[in-house]
Amino acid sequence: MNVSSKPVRKAVFPVAGLGTRFLPATKVMPKEMLPINDRPLIQHVYEEARDAGIEEFIFVTGRYKNMLEEHFDYQPELEETLSSRGKEDMLAAVRDSEMPEGKLFTTRQPKPLGLGHAVWCAHKLVGNEPFAILLPDDIVNHEKGCLAQMIETYNEFGGNVVAVKNVPREETNKYGILDIGEKKGAAVSIKGLVEKPNPEDAPSTLSIIGRYILQPEIFEHLSVFERGAGNEIQLTDAMAKLLGVQPFHGLRFEGQHFDCGSRLGFIAANLAYGLKDPAVSAGVRSIIKDLL
Ligand code: G1P
Repeated sequence: MNVSSKPVRKAVFPVAGLGTRFLPATKVMPKEMLPINDRPLIQHVYEEARDAGIEEFIFVTGRYKNMLEEHFDYQPELEETLSSRGKEDMLAAVRDSEMPEGKLFTTRQPKPLGLGHAVWCAHKLVGNEPFAILLPDDIVNHEKGCLAQMIETYNEFGGNVVAVKNVPREETNKYGILDIGEKKGAAVSIKGLVEKPNPEDAPSTLSIIGRYILQPEIFEHLSVFERGAGNEIQLTDAMAKLLGVQPFHGLRFEGQHFDCGSRLGFIAANLAYGLKDPAVSAGVRSIIKDLL
């Protein structure tokens, strides 16, 4: 099937979270600034979105998160210094981390009322068109980025697409979980969605990781501000209201996924990205060997 779908031009990055799992590292530094190899988490997800063709980047920020905007800004003194010292590689890396003018938009989530609420806070900036959401806790290591893979699925089926992977049954209470319909290659149609079910109640073990392509009708459901799991306004609950009304698919994406919101996932991601970086790969390998 080849449905006509409006292109996905905008992406929302919910970055208001407190990062309590990384205290004291995140006492003054936003957790999205924690580095995986040579760049912060937020830059990894920004690049994934940019490579997938996203044109507008919407940060849902909160208190003490100004550093995230600074990171993507033009830094003339730094560039002059690098240029005068002939550090061309570093200069190119710094320039690559700048967001072109007119591309970055910010809005605030004043209170931590849940992911659904954070996304709702971006509704004016998104307007009436499909959009992506990328959670910077989740990074996916693959030649073709996870969002680019999802856009292919979106171009085929239209509607809404989430990235999914199997998790151990005892972990279903950490994720949004799918009730699976028809299998269509790497995609599955979704019959039901439950936020953080107990293992015995989970309809499957296929869980949502932090990548979404959603239609703007999601905002009608989010604006009700209904509380769900953990007494938070859940994105999953609003998505469930679109099931049966619009196409909704899960994509079993290709690539290694790291949950960098957990310390173990963060360490694993640093090892994996170090191992694939030619500048440090051999060194990382020998350090791991020595440590073991
Ligand atoms: C959020 C979503 C959940 C999803 C997860 C992916 O949960 O509510 O459905 O599976 O992100 O990382 P959180 O990690 O914010 O608790």
